[in-house]
Amino acid sequence: MKFKKKILCIGAGYVGGPSMAMIAYKCPDCRITVVDTNPDRIDAWNSEDLPVYEPGLDKIVKITRGKNLFFTKDIENQIKENDIIFVSVNTPTKTYGAGADMAADLQYWEKTARQILKHSRSSKIVIEKSTLPVKTALAMEKILASAKGKIKFDVLSNPEFMAEGTAISDLENPDRVLIGSHETKSGLKARAELIEIYAQWIPLRKIITSNIWSSELSKLVANAFLAQRVSSINSISALCEKTDADISEVAKAVGMDSRIGDKFLRAGIGFGGSCFKKDILNLVYLCSYYGLQEVAAYWESVVKINEYQQERFMANILNSMFSTLAGKKICILGFAFKADTGDTRESPAIYISQKLLAEHAEVIISDPKALKNAAIDLDGIKGNVKYIEDPYRAVAGCHAIAILTDWNLYRNLDFQKIYNSMVKPAFIFDGRNIIDHKKCFSIGFNVYPIGKPALSHFKN
Ligand code: NAD
Ligand code: UGA
Repeated sequence: MKFKKKILCIGAGYVGGPSMAMIAYKCPDCRITVVDTNPDRIDAWNSEDLPVYEPGLDKIVKITRGKNLFFTKDIENQIKENDIIFVSVNTPTKTYGAGADMAADLQYWEKTARQILKHSRSSKIVIEKSTLPVKTALAMEKILASAKGKIKFDVLSNPEFMAEGTAISDLENPDRVLIGSHETKSGLKARAELIEIYAQWIPLRKIITSNIWSSELSKLVANAFLAQRVSSINSISALCEKTDADISEVAKAVGMDSRIGDKFLRAGIGFGGSCFKKDILNLVYLCSYYGLQEVAAYWESVVKINEYQQERFMANILNSMFSTLAGKKICILGFAFKADTGDTRESPAIYISQKLLAEHAEVIISDPKALKNAAIDLDGIKGNVKYIEDPYRAVAGCHAIAILTDWNLYRNLDFQKIYNSMVKPAFIFDGRNIIDHKKCFSIGFNVYPIGKPALSHFKN
């Protein structure tokens, strides 16, 4: 079959895989190839056991793989063969040198730019899909501008706004698609080409355009605003615990103001995931770089509150359990950073597990999708850790449960059965406010929610 467009995506991760699968699904006349330097990832994309768990992803990969969606290790030839190249490699926080722990580490990004330059034999459109600091496209352009002969590259910014766990519905029905380009003739032509792809399933009114720098900055700001809401509600949860206010009631009352809205007001143990912290720190670094210290401090406080929330949660466990956890068994229900994903990057569960182990508690970790990643995260950390997927087996014989991921599964557990199998007095620390606290209290548990009064059977 002759395809209308030949598209390559460099980076077969949480973004590259699902977003390209969606384009392949919606645009049968386009051929999409996804490459990665990690051969195991490519093998997994070609297997029955995909490297990323996302509800609905299996189905669209099955429909498209081998027809117009291909995963391969041959980066060199694919760069030669394709006309449109999405780049969705990882852009983690730098851990060394200038800007360490703040700035984005652009080494993978730059290597990709050089690879594209080295192997291209014809002009191409290169699209930033990774989240990058403002002006990164400029660096990409500078590298690509050294191409010899008539080869020309147009660089576009097209940040991805999908969230994990809902990636497929977000990609199928996004709030908006943002495309940043230069206002030059060839920049506008490249932009039109990308719009043509998205327009196959997304209404034109939702496809918005801007200059490249606005597009890059909008992505960082969107994540910063979302994370800020989580930190805002979490900061108020601390105040609720000191008073008789209830964070769910406060969030409901505040969120019903249509100017504020009710989304992202769920108090919990703090945000995780590979992006919120990294992108805010990146924003903080940019502000500092431009001498905007007050603005930098404002955004940094969002990350600080997030750390504070996790510290508070841990201190609450220790204090409530008579200031010693040594030899006690604590079951962590949920290790993923949110429900419906196996991803554990920056999951608060990593911090909580480490702190529990440092207190010499025995930690039993349960999660329906994230146990493999949990074992990698805690590898080499001293202490007694067990991994048990079945929540009933995991909690048996434990002194306490800490709910750290909002998996639906945990809402409907048989807590009477669980209570019967635990050491008494039994404790539940609900880091997601997802279970029926009053019911658990009446069963006999001492219950510690977030931002609500504790329900304890102890007299002071
Ligand atoms: P990821 O780590 O899951 O995937 C990145 C992939 O790129 C890895 O498989 C890695 O091996 C590969 N890679 C790195 N350098 C390469 C190179 N030179 N050539 C080929 N492959 C290379 O990361 P991710 O979660 O998919 O995120 C990618 C980007 O998208 C980041 O900038 C992130 O901020 C952004 N983003 C992520 C999400 C999300 O939900 N995870 C959402 C929106 C945006
Ligand atoms: C987030 C953004 O929502 C996406 O738009 C963005 O594309 C993505 O980051 C990215 O750039 O990587 P994601 O991190 O996958 O997506 O998931 P979210 O639903 O945003 O949740 C992030 C964290 O905040 C989770 O730990 C979640 O449990 C927590 N959260 C979220 C709360 O604690 N309370 C809330 O009310 C909402």
